[in-house]
Amino acid sequence: VATSTGGYDVTVGDGVFADVLASGTHDVVIADAYFGDRFHAGAPVIPVEASEANKTLAYAEGILVAMQALGVDRGSHLLAVGGGVVQDLATFAASLYMRGVAWTYVPTTLMAMADSCIGGKSSINAGGIKNLVGNIYPPDAVLIDPEIGRTLSEEATVAGLAEAVKICFCRGNDALAGHLQCYRAWSDGTASMAPLLLQVLDTKRWFIEIDEFDRRERRLLNFGHTFGHAIEVATGYRVSHGVAVAVGMLCAVRYGGATGRTGDSAVLVDHCRSLLARVPGLAGHLSQADLERFASAFAADKKHGADGFRLILPAAGGGVEEVREPDRQWALAVAVEAVTAVSEELRG
Ligand SMILES: NC(=O)c1ccc[n+]([C@@H]2O[C@H](COP(=O)([O-])OP(=O)(O)OC[C@H]3O[C@@H](n4cnc5c(N)ncnc54)[C@H](O)[C@@H]3O)[C@@H](O)[C@H]2O)c1
Repeated sequence: VATSTGGYDVTVGDGVFADVLASGTHDVVIADAYFGDRFHAGAPVIPVEASEANKTLAYAEGILVAMQALGVDRGSHLLAVGGGVVQDLATFAASLYMRGVAWTYVPTTLMAMADSCIGGKSSINAGGIKNLVGNIYPPDAVLIDPEIGRTLSEEATVAGLAEAVKICFCRGNDALAGHLQCYRAWSDGTASMAPLLLQVLDTKRWFIEIDEFDRRERRLLNFGHTFGHAIEVATGYRVSHGVAVAVGMLCAVRYGGATGRTGDSAVLVDHCRSLLARVPGLAGHLSQADLERFASAFAADKKHGADGFRLILPAAGGGVEEVREPDRQWALAVAVEAVTAVSEELRG
């Protein structure tokens, strides 16, 4: 992945995690506490309880202070092992500690393997607002070992697959078709997860190389996220991020239809519905969603502008486009209608 600061390699392969642990090139490890003693780190470990509640400035400060107590200096190398929560905290901590230390990232959830591990973003919650604070500080290397994902729950697998199809849908019909081909081969056991991951990451690479700092094309990857973040908030984070994004994509499609836009999304809708049918308890969580909290989170999304809401919706002919909705009150009412209808549909 080329970046303004040089770029980094992404390696996908069984055993790459064991190899980096054995290499001894790291001085400190920030790891998801889930792994506990499941691997021998070969360096001091700062465990992170991977919950949304811990993605805060105060928790990040705790990590920075722990790094100092362990003697980490400017020349040290940090290894981060975990999903998106660990990645967000590790990116933030690595970028700030002594104005930045080198780091390597080993993603452990499918969401992180297929999506967040490239792009270099950190997102920290503040004042109860999700992902309000953040920066961009790419790792020196990303090592993806699909074997690590074998212990993931069905929900976590669906969450990763949802972000994966989102990226490919945003790029257009060819990328979507390529993705669904990889997905089918993986589902029926004729291929491993590696080709799917490579196809998705290569698709995402286009967005982050052409727009590293999230000003134009990369913003399109927020498809499903204005709705998705608000669904996470409205369900008290009982619906996980990637699953909320899949529900959010269905809401965005419905919103687009209700506002007279003719995006081409039938294939995506079928795929999202079949993924979401595998998530235990989803219907119950959606039925308990607090629509007032949904509306305020939707309206507070940081992607909106002073001149109205900014939404990413399916575009005619494939892919997505950013639209501006100057009449916020009207748009909010349509958004609430969309999430209500999608929730009812998913509850069967
Ligand atoms: N920085 C970015 O670019 C970016 C992009 C998308 C999402 N995010 C953020 O990522 C977070 C969600 O991350 P996530 O979906 O990767 O999950 P996560 O990091 O929240 O982890 C979810 C759960 O899975 C467990 N887990 C992790 N790896 C496991 C494994 N291999 N086997 C079994 N359990 C495992 C964790 O302990 C945790 O309980 C959200 O906060 C979201 O905002 C960041």
